[in-house]
Amino acid sequence: MTVERQQLIEEVRRTGTLAGLPRGHFIAGRFVASASGREMESFDPGSGKPFAKVAAGDAEDVDRAVAAARSALSGPWSRLSPAARGEILMRASRLIAECAARFAVVETLDSGKRLSEAEGDVAGVVRAFAYYAGAADKLHGDSMPLGPDHVGLTIEEPVGVAAQIVPWNYPLSTAARGIAPALAAGCTLVVKPAEQTPFTTLMLAELLHQAGLPDGVLNVVAGTGPEAGAALVAHPGIDHITFTGSVATGQRVMRAAAEHVTRLVLELGGKSPVVVLADCDLDAAVDGVMEAIFENAGQICSAGSRLVVEEAIAQPLLDRLVGRAQALRPGHGLSDAGIGPINSPAQLARVAAHVDRARAAGNRILTGGAVVPPEECGGGWFYRPTIVLARDTADPLVQKEIFGPVLTVQIVPDFEAAVAAANATSYALVAGIYTRDHARAWRFARTVDAGQIYINEFFAGGVAMPFGGNRKSGFGRAKGMAGLRSYCKLKSVVARI
Ligand code: NAI
Ligand code: MG
Repeated sequence: MTVERQQLIEEVRRTGTLAGLPRGHFIAGRFVASASGREMESFDPGSGKPFAKVAAGDAEDVDRAVAAARSALSGPWSRLSPAARGEILMRASRLIAECAARFAVVETLDSGKRLSEAEGDVAGVVRAFAYYAGAADKLHGDSMPLGPDHVGLTIEEPVGVAAQIVPWNYPLSTAARGIAPALAAGCTLVVKPAEQTPFTTLMLAELLHQAGLPDGVLNVVAGTGPEAGAALVAHPGIDHITFTGSVATGQRVMRAAAEHVTRLVLELGGKSPVVVLADCDLDAAVDGVMEAIFENAGQICSAGSRLVVEEAIAQPLLDRLVGRAQALRPGHGLSDAGIGPINSPAQLARVAAHVDRARAAGNRILTGGAVVPPEECGGGWFYRPTIVLARDTADPLVQKEIFGPVLTVQIVPDFEAAVAAANATSYALVAGIYTRDHARAWRFARTVDAGQIYINEFFAGGVAMPFGGNRKSGFGRAKGMAGLRSYCKLKSVVARI
């Protein structure tokens, strides 16, 4: 694994790309060019250079993919037992583990993320397929006590053709956490990866095919949001949409879904608080806050992007965070430097604009607050790890998702004020707390509105824990058995006996 990884890294260093990357859409069990013949370029955010071309799909390709998924729904796939579906997923899990080095290096090249993070993502995907492999034959219904003359029971049926729109920050893991449960449930799929990061999803589709998935069960159409994504979510042939991305696009997807009354799960952004109380283990809190905001250069929907700190500990905590942030060296993801690049020039410009506006409005930049000059880091798209003290709760710095390595700081007098601050945005994705007082931690867990609460370890959990948001962060849940049930429709059957 490490030898192979080293060879792949050297190949990228030598050639700027990797041989053998997929180039077409994956439809009905094989790679195909776009109907229009068009292609688009994918970039390496660590160097700012294009490294490979891939098909650029539109409505015609989406049509072909949806037709393949619809016809696969009544093909051999529908006759497999749930246990047999589980066996295919388990084989896929093993195959991904065997190809882990290649998946991780491609993910780093395409998305920019640090290699060790990409390796963590791939390990999570191996685990996700194993988890849903084991769950495929455990989709129990209920039986209801209706009295002596009736039998009542519920059956979980696959929802049908599931469409999935994937963002660029966790390309492989987000795709997998929809694909694995949808397949376990017996659905077929059409997946649209982000235009910035199509390759690992295409590789995953080919690998699942090798694991025994019948033709047409999993289809991937590469392309932009307006051309391929919009056509997919508006398609009358799909039965369910899982969308992960921005609030604005999520609203557009929701409107499109309304047209055909298509079921929908939305995983949108966040401005998630990390509350640090004065009685915490300071070392654990420093590590936790650093990871919460600087992992994947802050490009995480569930990033802990708002530090809410009790006044009594604010100075020592901020001193240590500023020191640690300044020590993070930007560098190419494959060199596993301190902090990786921003995924695209557009996203880099958005991050910079947020911070420039905050500075002009009188918020105090404690460290960072600038684009890294390209010559300092090989031409890539980097932003300095940034910590900003917020003026007040109403400031956009506190309210708006930045989606970059920018930590907003709010200093509060006590626990009650920390809870109020945690709840003070329109998002409700995750919330974390660092304290030794478990009664308070549990009170926080009960009174803060969020899809998930982390106590003394940010990002704790894994595939077994359901994940999703409330309010502007969306609705519906991925992961866990809840994620599996979102790909099912419940049928009630009652018999008179
Ligand atoms: P986006 O929400 O537009 O893109 C996400 C996915 O949606 C991509 O696959 C894109 O091709 C697709 N898409 C775009 N327009 C579509 C449409 N009309 N119909 C169907 N699919 C469509 O996000 P974008 O522009 O890449 O980033 C903008 C902001 O979104 C970021 O600054 C960040 O704040 C947020 N974001 C949040 C993510 C999350 O994990 N919640 C992930 C990516 C971005
Ligand atoms: Mg790319």
